[in-house]
Amino acid sequence: MATPTTPTWVLFAVSKDASLLGAITEKHAGHRTHYNVTGFNPVIGQPVHGIEAGHHVVRIESSAPVMLEPHKPDAHVVVFRGVTQHLHYTNKEDKEKLAVESRTEMEASPSTTAVIIPIRKSAGWWALTQDQRQAFFHKTKSSEGHTNIGHPFAAGVYRKLYHSRYTGSALPYDFVTYFEFPADHADDFGHLLSNLRDVSRNPEWESVELEFEIRMVKVKND
Ligand code: HEM
Repeated sequence: MATPTTPTWVLFAVSKDASLLGAITEKHAGHRTHYNVTGFNPVIGQPVHGIEAGHHVVRIESSAPVMLEPHKPDAHVVVFRGVTQHLHYTNKEDKEKLAVESRTEMEASPSTTAVIIPIRKSAGWWALTQDQRQAFFHKTKSSEGHTNIGHPFAAGVYRKLYHSRYTGSALPYDFVTYFEFPADHADDFGHLLSNLRDVSRNPEWESVELEFEIRMVKVKND
């Protein structure tokens, strides 16, 4: 996933109330992007409640942690937070290949699909050592691994990985993953997801205990 050298902090705010969302995000100096939710898919674990098609999303990216304007506690706003990090598991060869081949961020348009997938991994995963975790990303005799599965899709799908364990707050997810692709690539994206979730091809996913998808259209950048 994209790896800038200075961290980018992100906040995704989701609400059915577009004007509330505008009011609590408009003063922020960060880079704002607007989306409409088209669907919500639980995958595994207890997903957040209250996100559905027709809701609105604002993403704020910033060089510092993102704070929202105060709002009434009963106003229903769901928030996801994260921050980019250096690469943890990618070797030089894969980094260079992915840098050349990976899709860049897309323009907002009615045919630009964006997807947020928050993910939590198990305590067992986090108890592994660095070399044990890294091994899951690479090909072995019996499995392809995350990087090899993802590689053929990198040119068609823009991806960005935000880590949520390092935000200073206890959050129910470890990562907020974010993707963009042309609407007519939806089947390809579906194949990518089913390949990654197939634990015979990608044993890493045995450690995923929370995963859900927020499907959107990218409406505009401010
Ligand atoms: C588009 C094709 C994809 C490629 C080429 C790709 C590649 C990678 C690579 C190389 C890493 C390791 C980053 C590092 O070194 O720290 C990574 C991490 C990650 N990717 Fe993907 N990926 C793809 C799609 C996906 C999808 C669809 C998901 C979610 C369903 C996903 C979820 C993650 C997560 C959660 C991590 C962090 C794992 C951890 O640190 O434990 N990736 N990806």
